[in-house]
Amino acid sequence: MIQSNEGRCRVTDEKLEVVCDFNKQPLGNGFLEKQEFNNEYYYNMKIGFCNKSKMLQLVDQPSPEAMFHGNYAFFSSTSNYMQKHFEKFAKDVLSSKYFKSSSFVIELGCNDGILLKHFSKSGIKHLGIEPSENVAKLANESGIDTISEFFDEKLADEIINKYGHADIFMAANVMCHIPDIRSVVRGIKKLLSQQGVAIFEDPYLGDVVTKTSYDQIYDEHVFLFSALSIEYLFGLEGMDLINLEPQITHGGSMRYTIAHKGAYVREPIVDEILGLEIKQGLDRAETFKHFGQRVHESAVKLKEMILDLKSKGKKIAGYAATSKSTTVLNYCGIDGSLLEYIADSTPLKQGKFSPGMHIPIKSIQYFNENPPDYALLLAWNHQAEILDKEREFSVNGGRWITHVPYVRVIND
Ligand code: SAH
Ligand code: TMP
Repeated sequence: MIQSNEGRCRVTDEKLEVVCDFNKQPLGNGFLEKQEFNNEYYYNMKIGFCNKSKMLQLVDQPSPEAMFHGNYAFFSSTSNYMQKHFEKFAKDVLSSKYFKSSSFVIELGCNDGILLKHFSKSGIKHLGIEPSENVAKLANESGIDTISEFFDEKLADEIINKYGHADIFMAANVMCHIPDIRSVVRGIKKLLSQQGVAIFEDPYLGDVVTKTSYDQIYDEHVFLFSALSIEYLFGLEGMDLINLEPQITHGGSMRYTIAHKGAYVREPIVDEILGLEIKQGLDRAETFKHFGQRVHESAVKLKEMILDLKSKGKKIAGYAATSKSTTVLNYCGIDGSLLEYIADSTPLKQGKFSPGMHIPIKSIQYFNENPPDYALLLAWNHQAEILDKEREFSVNGGRWITHVPYVRVIND
């Protein structure tokens, strides 16, 4: 089930420098039933840095089929904020110089159709590619043409034969999931028409380092991209990074625009950000070794705070059973004896248990009916939305704990 690249970079095949070890971890989205506890899958999660490609990546990763399947537990449309974000993403693309009414638009990892619906409803020629069948089915049911496949170079050939070349190739929080990224990039190069562009966004390494948001590291995120690593990766196929647009989603993301060499002039912000990344040290393994030390300190502080509150008889629950919380809870060793439950709005997760730590997942209604004294905000990137939704909890004296950018009680 593990996909090991023998400690080598998936882009250059150079030996990775291991910079951080998260020990034994289960699948980030592997919510499970009690009878499955004994057969739970674990792997050793380490991250490594390649000095040549500047790509930070998991050393080993569970196989894609183990993570993306008919029971995939992540539904994009659960967040109102993300709904708005993708409406804006669609508007940005539709009003850009790259889009024409005759454009063929492809989205990789379209999930339940949160972004592509803004194209399909306007009658724009489109195609979604989504290997997790349950979410692909939702997209198809809402009128979005979606195929349930893993994207790679071979699929790109098949798409060209069946549908033709793409003018816009979009992806959000998908590219960083795909271990055979070289094949994906070759596929994009083949698939894009001469003036076509790939526009994709992913959690941004610069933010992860600044905020010590180590929970962006989990099985599905095989890479954490920077402009430096993306420029290198696409440069290998003779493609250009022509624009960068920082985003606030997922605690800090970056939107990259890529085109065939010479098709467009590079926006000045690209060189600005590349320069800032070198200043920040995103081109050096040493930066990530320091990051690893800060991660350890953050985890120790969070565990101490929770143990202290517990010793004072406080009731603590988690809020939002996010995939990224799997890393935090397992790395810190926060289990059901410390967090009574985790409240989450996804019906598929409710009634199950969290990966590794086996904390029961309850509904938001349960949280409202059985409020804890302290709620650990596991979806810290949705803080504004969640604190607003749960205003009553705070008004009644409930306290929120976060660990990003540092461990603290938000509303003390
Ligand atoms: N774009 C959505 C979903 C992100 S979750 C959003 O931003 O909310 C990542 C998605 O990528 C999952 O739905 C997963 O099934 C899909 N995925 C994983 N590997 C893929 C591959 N090789 N090709 C296409 N999609 C993939
Ligand atoms: P993710 O961080 O893996 O994207 O998952 C987000 C999870 O957070 C998902 O299970 C739904 C949950 N959630 C809530 O329960 N309430 C909310 O208000 C938000 C924004 C998310």
